[in-house]
Amino acid sequence: MGKSNLILQGLLVLVSFICIVHTTKVIYDGSNIPKHHKVIEANYTPRGEEYQIGNLTVYETPNRSAKRVLIHIYDILGMSTNIRQVADSISQIHDFRVVIPRIFREEYWNAENFPIAEQEEVDAWVEEYASWDGVARFDVMTIINHFKTTENITEFGIFGMCYGALISTMAAMEVRDIKAAGFVHPTYVTTEMANGVLAPMYILPTSNDPDYLPFYEILKTKFGDNCGHRRFTDMVHAFSGAGGDFSNPLIQQRVEEVVDILGLFFNRNLNNS
Ligand SMILES: *[C@@H]1O[C@H](CO)[C@@H](O)[C@H](O)[C@H]1NC(C)=O
Ligand SMILES: *[C@@H]1O[C@H](CO)[C@@H](O)[C@H](O)[C@H]1NC(C)=O
Ligand SMILES: *[C@@H]1O[C@H](CO)[C@@H](O)[C@H](O)[C@H]1NC(C)=O
Repeated sequence: MGKSNLILQGLLVLVSFICIVHTTKVIYDGSNIPKHHKVIEANYTPRGEEYQIGNLTVYETPNRSAKRVLIHIYDILGMSTNIRQVADSISQIHDFRVVIPRIFREEYWNAENFPIAEQEEVDAWVEEYASWDGVARFDVMTIINHFKTTENITEFGIFGMCYGALISTMAAMEVRDIKAAGFVHPTYVTTEMANGVLAPMYILPTSNDPDYLPFYEILKTKFGDNCGHRRFTDMVHAFSGAGGDFSNPLIQQRVEEVVDILGLFFNRNLNNS
C-alpha cells in the first residue's frame, strides 16, 4: 500500500474518530431523485483542466458553455480525483461550469504537515494556511471577479465538503454574489452561523456528523421551501470526498444523489442565460 494511501486512511480514521456520533433519526428518502446510469466510476480520470487566475490555480470542468459557475471547495485532503469527479458530474448532468480552487497551494502534501496526529494540529494548519479570513475569501472573490470581468457571468453558487463546508457557509454569509450554497459532511460549521447566512442552502450531513436540523430550522425561517436538509443515515463522514470508496455500489449511488440534489437545487437558484 502506497504512502499516500496510508496517509488517507490515517486521516479518515482520525476524521471518523473526531466526529460526534449523533442519534437523530431522519429517514433518508432517495426515491424522488433522478437516476443516471453509472455516473460515478471507480477508476475515474478527471476531464477538466487547471489554469491560473492571479496567484490561484483552479481546476475547471471541461464544458464551458454554461452561463453560471459553481465554486466547489475541496476537503482537507485537497485536489483529489473524487472531488473532481463530483465536479465533472454536476457540470455534465446539470449544466454548470464548476471551478475548484487550490486554496491549500499543495502545502497539505508536505510530509511535515501530514499525517497529523491531533485534531488541534489540523485546526492550526487550517488556520495558518486556509482560513476564510486569511486565504479563502480572497480566493473565492478572485474566481468571482474573474468570471464577471472576462466572461460576463453573474450567476454564482458554492458548495463544499468537510473543510469546504465551512468555506461555503462563510461565503453564503459574506459574499453577495453567491446566490445559493450547499455542503456535504461538514466540519467547523456551527448552528450560530445559520443566523448570518444570506443565500439559500442545501445541507447534507451523514450518520456521524453533528445534528444539523437546528441549522436547517434557521434556514427555513429565511428561505422557506428554497433550502434543504437531508441526512445520509447509511453514509459516514467523508464518503463523497477524497477518501470515499467510489468502487462501492452503495457509495456510488449516494454520491450520485449528492450530485443530483445539489444540481437540482442550484438549477432552481441560478439562471443559465
Ligand atoms: C494572493 O495575492 C493576493 C494579492 O496580491 C494576496 O493578498 C494574497 O495573500 C495571495 N495569496 C496567497 C495564498 O499567496
Ligand atoms: C456542453 O454543454 C451544452 C449545454 O450547456 C451542451 O449542449 C453541449 O452538448 C455540451 N458539449 C459537450 C461537448 O458535451
Ligand atoms: C453582459 O451581460 C449583460 C446582462 O446580461 C448584458 O446587458 C451585456 O451586454 C453583456 N456584456 C457583454 C460584453 O457581453
